[in-house]
Order: sequence, then C-alpha cells, then structure tokens
Amino acid sequence: MTRTSISEFARFKIEGQRFVCLTAYDAPTARILEAASVPMILVGDSVGNVVLGYRDTVPVTMEIMLHHTAAVRRGAPLTFVVADMPFGSFQISDEEAVRNAVRLVQESGADAVKVEGAGARISTIEQIVAAGIPVMGHLGLTPQNATQLGGFRVQGADAASAERLIADARALESAGVFSMVLECVPEEVAALVTERVSVPTVGIGAGRQCDGQVLVLHDLIGISSGYSPRFVRAYAAVEEQITHAVTAFSKDVADGSFPGDGEVFSMSEHALSALRRALPPVENSPKTESAESGSLASEKGKTKKHPVRDGRSS
Ligand code: KIV
Repeated sequence: MTRTSISEFARFKIEGQRFVCLTAYDAPTARILEAASVPMILVGDSVGNVVLGYRDTVPVTMEIMLHHTAAVRRGAPLTFVVADMPFGSFQISDEEAVRNAVRLVQESGADAVKVEGAGARISTIEQIVAAGIPVMGHLGLTPQNATQLGGFRVQGADAASAERLIADARALESAGVFSMVLECVPEEVAALVTERVSVPTVGIGAGRQCDGQVLVLHDLIGISSGYSPRFVRAYAAVEEQITHAVTAFSKDVADGSFPGDGEVFSMSEHALSALRRALPPVENSPKTESAESGSLASEKGKTKKHPVRDGRSS
C-alpha cells in the first residue's frame, strides 16, 4: 500500500471513483483504518466532542490537534492524513495560520490541513497553499461557527444561500484547495457544487452526488453520545459490544472465574517453599491465613506457566 496523493484524489473524481474518508484520533484506530485500505484519514476537531467530552469543537486547541494527529500518523504511516485546523488557529492572522499549518505537518506528520469556511478565510487558505501545504476546504455546516449559523442545521436550503455556497466553493477552488468537505447541505446543492468545481467534494450529510463520503468513525461503528444525525449509518454496534464485554468481565471477577488457570503466573514449588521459609509469620491477616492453610498452595499446582504478554507484566 502506498499513500494516496492529492493528484490521485483528483483522478478519482475524473474517473468517477468514489472514495471514503474517516475520522481517527488515536494510533490503534488509525492502524485499523489503514489495514482496511481507507485512503484518507481525517483527524477532525470533532476529537473535542467525540472523545474528549467537550460539548463542541470550540475548546480544541493546537496542542490537542498536534497530539492526536501525531498518534494517528504513528498508527497509519502509509495513509493520507488530514488534520483539522482548530478554532483560533487560523482566524487571528494569515501568518499565524501558516505557522500553525506548518506545525501540523512538521511536528505531527499530517499531509494536509482542513480549514473551515470561505470569505475571510480565502486569503488564509491561499497563504497556506503558497507555503506548500495542501488544504481541504469545509463548507455548509461548519461546526466551529455553528452559533453564527443558527445552530447545527442544514445550510444552503434556500436559493440565495445555496448560490452563496456555490460561489464559496468556487472561491475555495481558486484559492487552491485540493478537495472540500460539504457538510449538511441539500443533496441537490452538493450535486451542483460537485459538477462546478474541479476538485473532489467529500460529503457528510450532503447526499449521493459527492465525489467522496466522510463520516465520524464512532458514528459508523455505533459509539454515540446519544444523538445520531440522520445522515449517519451505523455499521456496527460497538457500544453494545463494549457494554456486554464489561458486564461479562465484572461478573467473572465477582464469581472468581477471572483470572482463570491460563491467565496467571506461578512460582515453582521450590521457589515458593523457599519464600515461605524466608518470610516472617504474619499475624492477623485473614488472607495470609487462608493462603497458609493451603488454598494458594493447592491452586498453585493447577496453574500453568504463562508467557509475559506485550511486556505488560510486572
Ligand atoms: O471534525 C470533523 O470530524 C469533521 C468532519 C465531520 C468532516 O470536520
């Protein structure tokens, strides 16, 4: 497997080959996505609400994005990784935006950055692209300024706002983005954007005509924070599986069936006898008394030698 390049994403559009992009925030998840041949991983600022427990993406900082993007890069060394530029990292000045984009590429290994919005962001995007960093645009519902947009709702639903959205998409294309996310826009509007820009559109709640589809992985695998938008399709019920596993583990611990014979380490008879002889007697310890009276010694005979796994034993 080789890392998909931005020219290959452009070719996917020309050839009508739909592609996927999924979020990841940590190394093991990124490793799974890479093994499943996902060509593009987005380290979204959705890390804030999806895994860090914030209400939205606004509290996410550059340090958080650097930390999670570096983990994803370690987990998926061969996959094209896009890192979100968090709120506050590109709004203050173009110079600061370029510096932060450089950090995401240089310090955490991102291949590209994603910038929400158009309008005032166009010159910022031009500067980042001029610095040699591929930029993914993001139009429609842009969560960082959801309050300004009137909440988490469909964007471009009337003719005037749809026209503005299409103009914004053209402006992003002229600014040099290599692709753009369209979030929560009517399918018809996403189709019009897709046919009017030369770069791939990647939809989330933007219908069937986009060149690619992106979802938050946690939504796709069924780990939700309660609310699931209508554009999400859950392909697994991992939350249920985790609950089931944790409940089963708790039961096994409570009834003493975990750990079992093959899940413990044991000393040789010889070493144990030497240890017993060396230890001073302990008074008033019910646990020791029961061990001394034979339960540990008799259990010991049943246990098998077990190799230390992953160096995690002490
Ligand atoms: O942060 C994110 O996960 C995103 C996707 C929803 C596109 O921006």
